[in-house]
Amino acid sequence: MTSGEPSAGLAAHVLDSAVTALAAAGVPSPRSDAEQLAAYVTGEPRWRLRRTTAITLADQDRFQDLVARRAARVPLQHLVGSVGFRYLTLAVGPGVFIPRPETEVVVGWALDVVRAAGWARPICVDLCTGSGAIALALAEELPGACVHAVEVDPEALVWADRNITDHGFVGTDSRVTLHRADVGIDPAGHGRNDGREPATAAVQRLADLVGRVDLVVSNPPYLRDDERDTVDPEVGMHDPPAALWAGPDGLAGVRAVARVASDLLRDGGKLVIEHSDRHGSAAPALLRDSGCWEDVQDHLDLAGRDRFVSASRRSREH
Ligand SMILES: C[S@@+](CC[C@H](N)C(=O)[O-])C[C@H]1O[C@@H](n2cnc3c(N)ncnc32)[C@H](O)[C@@H]1O
Repeated sequence: MTSGEPSAGLAAHVLDSAVTALAAAGVPSPRSDAEQLAAYVTGEPRWRLRRTTAITLADQDRFQDLVARRAARVPLQHLVGSVGFRYLTLAVGPGVFIPRPETEVVVGWALDVVRAAGWARPICVDLCTGSGAIALALAEELPGACVHAVEVDPEALVWADRNITDHGFVGTDSRVTLHRADVGIDPAGHGRNDGREPATAAVQRLADLVGRVDLVVSNPPYLRDDERDTVDPEVGMHDPPAALWAGPDGLAGVRAVARVASDLLRDGGKLVIEHSDRHGSAAPALLRDSGCWEDVQDHLDLAGRDRFVSASRRSREH
């Protein structure tokens, strides 16, 4: 039999031995991952896999290879090259943070705010955009929005640019603009927090937007340095370090984003920042203490964990 010919039955035994291998490697959802890899290789939807009685030897080899890499804790999304995020399918791989379901909830809350306020043509900014997930979801679900995506990491910028193009936001009149700029995260955790910091590189780069933005949404790095030994291998070995680590208290990203947002937002503009589930008190306190924000509230994710903070830009005349 050649590698192009079918062999009998992908079904039960091939899938079951993949599940066993993934479970032994500590993969948290072995059956789901095995089925997703099989669906990726065969092009069959997951629900039809058990009825699939033929798979080429080449596909079987490919499947075994992917299962072995998943057992070595390469993220599933890197193996299949994409991740679903709200209504989008985003390209991801080495060099960019994989968007998480928690962030879909953050975006959903921001969308509700814009719709409830009746802002027909909001100017939105996604600070620390990574793959472009938040920016693209805002553009996709708010047809009148003009969205600016900000990222500093050159590798992440390549993925964001690809996703923006793949979703049709191209050309000079595109509603999504990608900016290479540094929001000024200080991993040492230093820096004043009184809203009077010198303009960061991001603010200088976005000078045209200062005081004009309606909505800033961000999922910045937010892990504490001492969490390095506790993260899953998929995270520690495959998410870019710049996407994860935020100093000894894990708040360097939140601090920097709040500072940039306080310059960009118009009075009454909305800020939404995702944070660690350990920061349900610290992140709101940081915003309240700065004096730039009012209506500061913290919010839960779908698992009931503290997950994001929202606030309105206080009037500058205050
Ligand atoms: C947790 S990831 C989030 C990515 C994306 N927003 C998402 O939710 O999938 C944080 C992102 O912040 C970027 N980042 C880190 N430091 C930055 C800085 N100083 N300026 C701009 N972006 C930064 C990282 O490169 C990474 O892409």
